[in-house]
Amino acid sequence: MIIAIDGYSSCGKSTLAKQLARELNYRYVDTGAMYRSVTLYLQRNQIDIHHPDQVERALSDISIRFDIASDGQQITLLNSENVENEIRVNPRVAGSVSDVAAIPAVRRFLVKQQQEMGKDGMIIMDGRDIGTVVFPHAELKLFVTASPEVRAQRRLDELVEKGQHTTFEEVLANLSKRDHIDTTRADSPLMKAEDAIELDNSNLTRQEQLEFVMKLVRERASGKA
Ligand code: DC
Repeated sequence: MIIAIDGYSSCGKSTLAKQLARELNYRYVDTGAMYRSVTLYLQRNQIDIHHPDQVERALSDISIRFDIASDGQQITLLNSENVENEIRVNPRVAGSVSDVAAIPAVRRFLVKQQQEMGKDGMIIMDGRDIGTVVFPHAELKLFVTASPEVRAQRRLDELVEKGQHTTFEEVLANLSKRDHIDTTRADSPLMKAEDAIELDNSNLTRQEQLEFVMKLVRERASGKA
């Protein structure tokens, strides 16, 4: 089975995806980490994202893989370097990843790899276009939402835990900007697939959310829904 999870920034998609992957013994692919890694690479190499040919050339030098660290956590490798922490906490990456993700050549490059990763099934992938573009035939599609304030608070807690100094207002502004770019871009904008199940988790605990989704998974697996 392929499980596609889409939704706005910081609405708990990856928490849910990791829980499900553990529960089902499936592979988890965080496609946001792939867009963040490309962004980091382009910034480090001073590639002008407004020049499509420069971006396209740079992509051929980028390899992104996932691995499991010694503490059991999944990490992202950019050309074999562990960039997991940097892609999450570097404010420059958060500041321009949505612009990078709007570049058609970048999307083509990553979508192809994502489809390859999922070709044998038993995978949970989260992002913005998984149920609409990457796996339009996924057996279960979820569209996760939560109020902007709840999302900003969750993201702030995460950043503070990682030692970053920022404010609720700054985080909320960054989320709103990313939501706007992600939903209005021309190439595969964030939208709910027609057959996706909407899940607003503003008032759900992680456990409640997991139980809700596991019920759906069991129904789909037994062919009931
Ligand atoms: O899920 P995230 O916050 O790590 O995603 C980072 C950015 O990448 C976000 O602005 C949207 C973009 N993205 C995308 O366009 N398509 C995906 N499948 C995943 C992420």
